[in-house]
Amino acid sequence: MAAQPDAIDRRKRAAAEAAAAEIGDGMTVGLGTGSTAAFAIAAIARRMRDGLSVRAVATSERTAAAALSMGIPLVAMDDVDSLDLAIDGVDEIDPLFRAIKGAGGAMLREKIVASAASRMIAIADASKFVDRLGARPVPIEVLPLARAFVARRVTLLGGTAHLRAGTDGPARSDQGNVILDCAFGPVSDPAALAVALSAIPGALGHGLFVEEIDALYLGDGDGVIRRDRPPPTADG
Ligand code: 5RP
Repeated sequence: MAAQPDAIDRRKRAAAEAAAAEIGDGMTVGLGTGSTAAFAIAAIARRMRDGLSVRAVATSERTAAAALSMGIPLVAMDDVDSLDLAIDGVDEIDPLFRAIKGAGGAMLREKIVASAASRMIAIADASKFVDRLGARPVPIEVLPLARAFVARRVTLLGGTAHLRAGTDGPARSDQGNVILDCAFGPVSDPAALAVALSAIPGALGHGLFVEEIDALYLGDGDGVIRRDRPPPTADG
């Protein structure tokens, strides 16, 4: 039986709090976007009230507003050379820590922050853990004038692109771009798909994370499962 919404929230919160416990004094931390990341932001704010000192880079305007409202000092991405840790949610993650992100539309900034961080922790409730990626679409942030062009390229790669709708016209990213949600079905080679999507002119960023995630905290019915990224196999 699928978990009820309040049980899912408890699992997200448990995973987020476990990840926030890894933050050390003086760290620069990347703050993800979404409901699970929001629990991490609240947990960090609580730790700061107990004396922890951190500064943070936000992956979206929503996250920036939440962090500031809770007293977490923010720094611009441009003003940091690197981050110690990034904590963020996922939409799907597989056993090799390949993930789909971006249901919240923040995947471009999320990938920049994750790539700049020495370490990235994914946080999720256990329903996000899948054998194979692809039940959910891969979002792509697209320069508005390239929307039809990118959609055609996605079709050539075997996907179907849908323009994400907002409340009044197409949804816009924090950067003012549009988002194509691209359904590929089961993804047999996430790394190859990520390379192909990155190569499309006008596609500014996509939600396939192949190499960024180092550790995973999964909240399930019995508590939090912590996993480290499995070592690469001989064939990569
Ligand atoms: C936003 C994201 C989110 O981290 C992802 O969609 C998970 O969201 P939630 O924690 O609300 O399930 O990638 O761009």
